Amino acid sequence: MSTQTHWNHIYQTKSPQETSWYQPHLETSLDWILEAAPDRSASIIDVGGGESTLVDDLLARRFASVTILDVAGAALGKSQNRLGDRAKNVAWIEGDVTEVALPPRAYDIWHDRAVFHFLTQAEQRSAYVRQLSASLKTGGQVLMATFGPEGPQKCSGLPTQRYDALSLLRELGPDFRLVRHSVVDHQTPFGTRQQFLYCHFAFAASC
Ligand SMILES: C[S@@+](CC[C@H](N)C(=O)[O-])C[C@H]1O[C@@H](n2cnc3c(N)ncnc32)[C@H](O)[C@@H]1O
Repeated sequence: MSTQTHWNHIYQTKSPQETSWYQPHLETSLDWILEAAPDRSASIIDVGGGESTLVDDLLARRFASVTILDVAGAALGKSQNRLGDRAKNVAWIEGDVTEVALPPRAYDIWHDRAVFHFLTQAEQRSAYVRQLSASLKTGGQVLMATFGPEGPQKCSGLPTQRYDALSLLRELGPDFRLVRHSVVDHQTPFGTRQQFLYCHFAFAASC
């Protein structure tokens, strides 16, 4: 089954509260974006945004340039329906982050919660980093949340990769600098806990 078919099926058959990653609001992500964004004109991409309400919260805080990317058109459709008229203030990209066309040097902030840890093949991770490096502005910021060292080894029926801050930094490579990291226990809607690692990296490439 392709990545796209897998994730579309999830969004077509489950409500948000039936998914382990659900949070009413992505509070840590939002707090870190508010701290990292130079101002409200910052260009923000949420990679694998799914149907999370981060986009609602960014629009409510008057961020003017928000892009949501996801391989699952079904997820984007659900977010668009939820937002109604406000959806027209968002750029929507349906595609696989490792291969979809992205504008060069376009984003001040790249946010990814719970996507990178699904890339279990080294080639997928290299392709992700190439996309990230080409579409971030020089001086851009990367906010990533993956499963931590004691996080799950599977999610949504797929294998996952666990990281600590140094192993994640190694994946991104020498053009990135670790600004801070934090391990956060996520309480799933089923009453279980999943360990997440949040990392903030600064992009220092000069090309
Ligand atoms: C665990 S969910 C997290 C959703 C959202 N970021 C959140 O925190 O609520 C993973 C999301 O990544 C998307 N996804 C998975 N692999 C992807 C890929 N290769 N390219 C783009 N999106 C992907 C899925 O469709 C899904 O929406």
